[in-house]
Amino acid sequence: RLMMEPSKEFVFNYKGFYFAVNTTPEYVASLENFEIKDSDIFIATYPKSGTVWTQNILSLILHEGHRNGTENMETMDRIPWVEYNIKNMDYANLPLPRVFATHLPYYLTPKELRNKKGRVIYVTRNPKDVLVSYYHFSKFIRTLEKIPDFNIFMERFLAGKVLASAWFDHVSGWYNHAKDFNILFLTYEEMKKDLRSTVLKICNFIGKKLSEEEIESVVRQATFENMQKDPRANYENMPDDIAIKGKGRFLRKGTIGDWKNTMTVAQSERFDEVLKEKIQTLPIKFTWDT
Ligand code: A3P
Repeated sequence: RLMMEPSKEFVFNYKGFYFAVNTTPEYVASLENFEIKDSDIFIATYPKSGTVWTQNILSLILHEGHRNGTENMETMDRIPWVEYNIKNMDYANLPLPRVFATHLPYYLTPKELRNKKGRVIYVTRNPKDVLVSYYHFSKFIRTLEKIPDFNIFMERFLAGKVLASAWFDHVSGWYNHAKDFNILFLTYEEMKKDLRSTVLKICNFIGKKLSEEEIESVVRQATFENMQKDPRANYENMPDDIAIKGKGRFLRKGTIGDWKNTMTVAQSERFDEVLKEKIQTLPIKFTWDT
């Protein structure tokens, strides 16, 4: 039982959602009135669904594939986290268009965003890969609770007792409230299978015209292999108080179906027992392996 409750050392609950303790309930509450500009772009995800990937694609698109002037900036500074302003940046005065990343559930996002001001790109990934990626990630990130036993981690995940709460609630919330937002839905798997089409979709959504060459350049630099080689795309310079050196990498495997290497058949069946029917209510066709 005790193992099921997230430790207060790592998270707090605000309106039914678990946040890491490097933000506060007051700050999260203030986001309701966060001022949105028409050109704002929010990348919204449940953790481990392709956030950093999408952050990099957007950086590249906005800088025509060369990222001039931003190549020396950490991803976190180029596209900061809305609800975790750990560097105390002045969000109101960032260069336009502002791009933010967020794990917020739809109902805690800025009111203006929920009134179709600005744009949202929401990325989902098949939840077995999310679970496994999350499990490995927890070992590596200091600010996440350590749950060495995969079984317990999975039960926590299924019960929504992890940072960002229940995967299903997050995804279904955003999909069910799509009409409130100016929103583009993407999946990790479609990005993986056809990165070029994804890049074109994003360009179209944000109204950015790129030349054939620029598109090629974005696609080339956003592959797993090339991002893994780029210390900034790969979050290599994460401060010591966030990442535990040698315990993992932000870009770990980057594949579809890696869950099969961690989950046993029994665990996969247990997972299906809890989530399969729910998943069928979502308007997404997940790809579970390659
Ligand atoms: P794995 O742990 O399965 O490798 P997030 O950024 O939301 O935390 O998601 C992290 C996951 O996205 C990791 O999954 C990471 O490897 C994967 N990822 C990041 N960049 C990628 C890319 N260019 N291609 C494929 N997967 C990528």
